[in-house]
Amino acid sequence: MDSLASRRLIRLGRPEDAEALQVVHEAAVSAVPARFYPPEIVSAWRNSISSLRMSSYMADPGLLFLVARHNGAAVGFGCLEGRHIRAVYVHPGHGRQGFGHALLQALEKAARKSGFECVFLRASLNAAPFYVRNGYTDLGPGEFDLCVDLSMPCRRMAKAV
Ligand SMILES: CC(C)(COP(=O)(O)OP(=O)(O)OC[C@H]1O[C@@H](n2cnc3c(N)ncnc32)[C@H](O)[C@@H]1OP(=O)(O)O)[C@@H](O)C(=O)NCCC(=O)NCCS
Repeated sequence: MDSLASRRLIRLGRPEDAEALQVVHEAAVSAVPARFYPPEIVSAWRNSISSLRMSSYMADPGLLFLVARHNGAAVGFGCLEGRHIRAVYVHPGHGRQGFGHALLQALEKAARKSGFECVFLRASLNAAPFYVRNGYTDLGPGEFDLCVDLSMPCRRMAKAV
């Protein structure tokens, strides 16, 4: 899995990635098995990121926005803000091929380089095993705000980097 990063398939996000990454986000959320969240949460989660918002994330100097690429196409993205990992999404068509791991590893490396000893995140329930497999400790239940009146249950996680 580490060879993905070393083959430079992970790079900084660019404005021209925004549309493809909005599709990645939408597809990744659509593929979450129905047992984890009720339809109204999945729907709000799926619609929570437009390509315009994706572009604004990439332009935000406070965020490190990384993109995973395969055969010239954007297949995943990850986002770091300080010591907080804000997102890791991989298109389900490229799932279980190590892209999520490679993105996570690159974000952790960047956090370490910025002087942080620990990173934190809020994991969607479906993704919790992915983070545990990647060395994260489950700190207990939390909530992630989707919009003013809707939030989704998640797991708060941390890892020493
Ligand atoms: C969670 C997600 C990012 C994982 O990306 P991925 O590229 O498929 O993950 P990787 O291939 O790097 O997986 C690495 C290891 O993590 C574990 N893992 C990954 N996805 C898993 C899952 N859904 N359930 C259990 N373990 C999982 C496996 O051990 C895997 O290794 P293996 O395939 O050799 O068994 C991706 O499934 C996704 O985008 N999910 C929907 C969006 C989401 O919930 N993102 C997280 C928001 S907090």
